[in-house]
Amino acid sequence: MLGVSTPEMVAAVSNEGGLGSLPVGGLSPEVIQQLIRQTQTLTNKPFAVNLFAHAVPPYTEEDIEPMRHLLMQLATKRGYQLDAANLSDFQLYTYHDQIDTLIQEGVSIVSFTFGCLDNTTIQLLKSIGCTLIGTATCVEEALYLQQHSIDLITVQGVEAGGHRGTFIESIPLPQVGLFSLLPQVKSAVQIPCIAAGGINSAQSIKAAFELGADAVQIGTAFIGTEESQAIASYKDKLTAAKDTDTSLTRAFSGRWARGIRNELMSEIEESGVPIPPYPVQNSLIAKLRKLAQQAGDSDYTTLWAGQSAGGTERKSAKEVFLNLVEQYKVLYS
Ligand SMILES: Cc1cc2nc3c(=O)[nH]c(=O)nc-3n(C[C@H](O)[C@H](O)[C@H](O)COP(=O)(O)O)c2cc1C
Repeated sequence: MLGVSTPEMVAAVSNEGGLGSLPVGGLSPEVIQQLIRQTQTLTNKPFAVNLFAHAVPPYTEEDIEPMRHLLMQLATKRGYQLDAANLSDFQLYTYHDQIDTLIQEGVSIVSFTFGCLDNTTIQLLKSIGCTLIGTATCVEEALYLQQHSIDLITVQGVEAGGHRGTFIESIPLPQVGLFSLLPQVKSAVQIPCIAAGGINSAQSIKAAFELGADAVQIGTAFIGTEESQAIASYKDKLTAAKDTDTSLTRAFSGRWARGIRNELMSEIEESGVPIPPYPVQNSLIAKLRKLAQQAGDSDYTTLWAGQSAGGTERKSAKEVFLNLVEQYKVLYS
């Protein structure tokens, strides 16, 4: 979970027998090296490194001017001093810039979302024994990943917090719930599937296994942990969230993602100003998001969360993980 997960969280999960996942989408090779090394000092167990496999769309200063203007206006109204963002300020690293660092640092499990790695990168990673995990939000994407020799698929239901992993753009945004999606993907592919979306209890883990999952992937339930980078007011919103409090939005990043609705989301959506595509909008909004986070202002930052966010606990990552395992054993072993 980029912006939330830390080496401490990743290591806590891996140390207890789970597979921690270190998010590095869009980060520089130098930062990635540092994060991987930090994680390696905290665990000698395997962990995955997670990349974003999207293309960067062409855009110009002119294209972004209306959104830049809106964000300046909103920041001033909220009492934040925001310098105008220039496109030249943004350094957008793609996975092509990052792969060499992963290889140098001895990463053995690479997961990715927002697309599929290209064939050369897939062959390169496989030739050194890397396990590859792709993300699918519909059957067609799952088949695409299988055809490209990906080893496992994260099957992401629409309940899931954060960005949709969607990458086939010729079909309308897949919004399939995990209960419907998982059995259909399982019937279509022959590789293992990891269920993601709304899983936060022994019962939901069991339900995923009953529907054919080979493993489960859990995000939101770890946002409230001590090791998470989320600000306190974000964690509070998660704990208090109702089933209907999240929405899919493009307002924060230019890609569809699920989060708890807040003022900034509504103001951008209701402005009618065109939202630039990912990762442009994500970069444009970054400074405002940072200012809001520094001020503890959960109404002006992103609150990525899934539909099962309510009741998220404030424990250590180790406790959250072990409680799930323990509950599962008590109920089902
Ligand atoms: C705050 C947050 C950040 C996320 N960041 C990433 C990411 O960097 N890479 C990724 O593959 N998935 C990311 N996801 C999606 C998760 O991998 C997963 O699909 C989702 O959390 C599962 O649903 P749940 O949140 O209901 O458990 C993120 C999810 C959240 C909540």
